[in-house]
Amino acid sequence: MDATLSSTTHDYLLLLLPASATFLSPLLAALLVVVASLLWLFPGGPAWALRPDTARDILYGAAFADRPVKDAARGMLFHRAMGFAPSGGDYWRALRRVSGSHVFSPRCVAASAPRRRAIGERMLERLAADGEEAVVGMRRVLHAASLEHVMDTVFGTTRYDEEVEAMVKEGYDLLGMFNWGDHLPLLKWLDLQGVRRRCRALVRRVDVFVRTIIDEHKQRKRSADDDENGDFVDVLLGLQGEDKMTESDMVAVLWEMIFRGTDTVAILLEWIMARMVLHRDIQAKAQEELDAIVGRGRAVSDADVAGLRYLRCIVKETLRVHPPGPLLSWARLAVHDARVGGHHVPAGTTAMVNMWAIAHDPEIWPEPDAFRPERFAGEEGSDGVGGDLRLAPFGAGRRVCPGKALALATVHPWLAQLLHRFDWEPVAGVDVDLSERLNMSLEMEKPLVCRAKPRW
Ligand code: HEM
Repeated sequence: MDATLSSTTHDYLLLLLPASATFLSPLLAALLVVVASLLWLFPGGPAWALRPDTARDILYGAAFADRPVKDAARGMLFHRAMGFAPSGGDYWRALRRVSGSHVFSPRCVAASAPRRRAIGERMLERLAADGEEAVVGMRRVLHAASLEHVMDTVFGTTRYDEEVEAMVKEGYDLLGMFNWGDHLPLLKWLDLQGVRRRCRALVRRVDVFVRTIIDEHKQRKRSADDDENGDFVDVLLGLQGEDKMTESDMVAVLWEMIFRGTDTVAILLEWIMARMVLHRDIQAKAQEELDAIVGRGRAVSDADVAGLRYLRCIVKETLRVHPPGPLLSWARLAVHDARVGGHHVPAGTTAMVNMWAIAHDPEIWPEPDAFRPERFAGEEGSDGVGGDLRLAPFGAGRRVCPGKALALATVHPWLAQLLHRFDWEPVAGVDVDLSERLNMSLEMEKPLVCRAKPRW
């Protein structure tokens, strides 16, 4: 399906219509239009924001503070997790408050920095063990590190096995797939695509896995009465009074964190590294900065990151060119009628911000397709990702990504470690292919394979 502007080019709400229908027989075209109408043109169909001002109406609008819960999300119990719980309720507010004052608070993010750096060091050791000028499949390496990190933040352990990886992958596949049942209620009950069946099977596995970890925490708490090591399980177990959670709600909340935190960070780093391999001059400039601030005699420390201004610009530019959630994947739902960019939007409409389109709009970003970290060099003091909605890869408003600071506190030092220790080069005969694939996140269609050459 092609995207077609609904009336004039100043209309920033986009409806999806099958433009390709003109090439089809009239009967088939008519059928497609009817199906498209059923799918999209009802309240509950999508409205898209393509400009910062309409994005603002959606992201900051009180009407759009909920999310549509897809069948797969409900099947995986995510309606009880932070990302899909209705924002009007105490439950969602309590989750935001509790996570915001513990795992995602600046104090906790800073306190866990040494553990993140250690995970980064282990990643470098594994790469070095592969030998001089090793050919590296980056996706595997980055995904493993990211999963280790999220396991540490959420469960207080870096231990994970293939079962966890498989569960995360299955969850992504289920949430990312187009499910006819989300649009045609009859099909929902028939479950022709097997979404509900697969969700039930996945939830059983997740339940066993997460409850085992919760039990271990309860044991540890009883034996050591240790309030110090505040991972997210400890935090949730410690809730009292009205905030106290049932164990099945805890499973949903903890599982969502693993699910959301793992791929986003790994995908962003894979895009950054692809750009580093393609733009060797930019890589060299970042390494010059590292040599000036860190030198070659010691490992990168957390304190160094503040001085690595160019490296942070590289991260911003990658978030602009390859936003991992290009449609701010977690859409918003209008809980009552609203106006967006002067248009009436009825209650029940799914609203999406096309951050990819905004970040590639030549009226907003000169030469939008050029990868130029320097464009952010003048932005002293601002993190430049979220404030003015020209670049809001973590969303904005009351449902903004709570993991933003944690994600950046992971990506910056790991990128510094990777560039400090190795030169990254293409492998002869293997192209760095920037084709995109939109699943739950926008990932590289062809995983990055490159060569890591120790710098000293
Ligand atoms: C590069 C990394 C990441 C990107 C690009 C990203 C992006 C996003 C986006 C676009 C949203 C929707 C925001 C909105 O509707 O305004 C979101 C929501 C969310 N993210 Fe992230 N995210 C990242 C990392 C993380 C991490 C590391 C965690 C946790 C460990 C996390 C947890 C969440 C949660 C729980 C929500 C739902 C919040 C709510 O609805 O109240 N994210 N993220």
